[in-house]
Amino acid sequence: MSLKKDLEVLRDQGLTQIKATEAMKDLNDIRVKLLGKKGPITNVLRGMKDLSPEERPKVGAFANEIRDTLTTAIEARKSTLEARALNKQLAAETIDVTLPGRQVHVGTSHILTQTMDDIEELFIGMGYQVVDGPEVEEDHYNFEMMNIPKNHPARDMQDTFYITNELLMRTHTSPVQARTLEKHDFSQGPLKMISPGRVFRRDTDDATHSHQFHQIEGLVVDKHITMADLKGTLEVLAKHVFGAERTIRLRPSYFPFTEPSVEVDVSCFACGGKGCAVCKYTGWIEVLGAGMVHPNVIKNAGIDPDVYGGFAFGLGPDRFAMLKYGIDDIREFYLNDIRFLHQFNTEG
Ligand code: PHE
Repeated sequence: MSLKKDLEVLRDQGLTQIKATEAMKDLNDIRVKLLGKKGPITNVLRGMKDLSPEERPKVGAFANEIRDTLTTAIEARKSTLEARALNKQLAAETIDVTLPGRQVHVGTSHILTQTMDDIEELFIGMGYQVVDGPEVEEDHYNFEMMNIPKNHPARDMQDTFYITNELLMRTHTSPVQARTLEKHDFSQGPLKMISPGRVFRRDTDDATHSHQFHQIEGLVVDKHITMADLKGTLEVLAKHVFGAERTIRLRPSYFPFTEPSVEVDVSCFACGGKGCAVCKYTGWIEVLGAGMVHPNVIKNAGIDPDVYGGFAFGLGPDRFAMLKYGIDDIREFYLNDIRFLHQFNTEG
């Protein structure tokens, strides 16, 4: 019976194809091809009309059996492929809970900013206002108003980047004294201000010099301000920054805009004043310049120096931070090497 043979061949070929199918889409194509309306089994069933009445039910039953066999095989293959796809997806989506987490580095203020913020807060607490001034400054404010006329030898103390004859990069924060003084209304009370900011000098960069660094200017002007006020204020500053046991001493010095002028030393925080490498065995460390505001500076701002007077100081946050944290090269502040900056990261 050749029909039966044909069906057996169909079945065996079908089963082989089904087994070899790797993709769901191919499996579907095979199903349509084998069992569809135009497929060979349908064809066989159609050809049964030519068979004898005895053979017809046998072949019919056999064809149905083969159709069932193929259908079952297709379903089985379908399950296998589905399971395989699911396993593949699960494996791909596996989360390794033992992997260490990614570290998130939080930035922090630059150590100079931290140093300046700290000093600002101290003075704000003592009733000072914080004033800003321009970095590109007029010769008029940087020098003339500060009692340093053109051709004055004191101009040599601060090697200047000139932009034009009248415009320059400010060499100190002192011009903010002049700018604030000439605007201040003394009927509203005394003038107490600090002014932090960047300053510029034509220096060759090395471990202790930078063509760009920072200052915090301080100025107090009122009636009856004395040098004792200056000393007391700077002592508060020294203790705040370098430790409660510190004392200060004033040594005579010269600045054109203060008279008398002083250099201020703080007792060595490393050895307590006994003498060590940090203070070069003197027990003292020079930290800033200061003095009583020169009458000419008061007069230049349109104020009567016989009635009003005060004190001023200028400190270097770069130097403060270098001393406090043992930094031996000022250029570290401006290189932005993350290994340097990170040491002062208070955020972790
Ligand atoms: N401006 C001075 C300097 O840069 C510092 C200073 C300020 C000294 C105020 C006295 C008073 O060297």
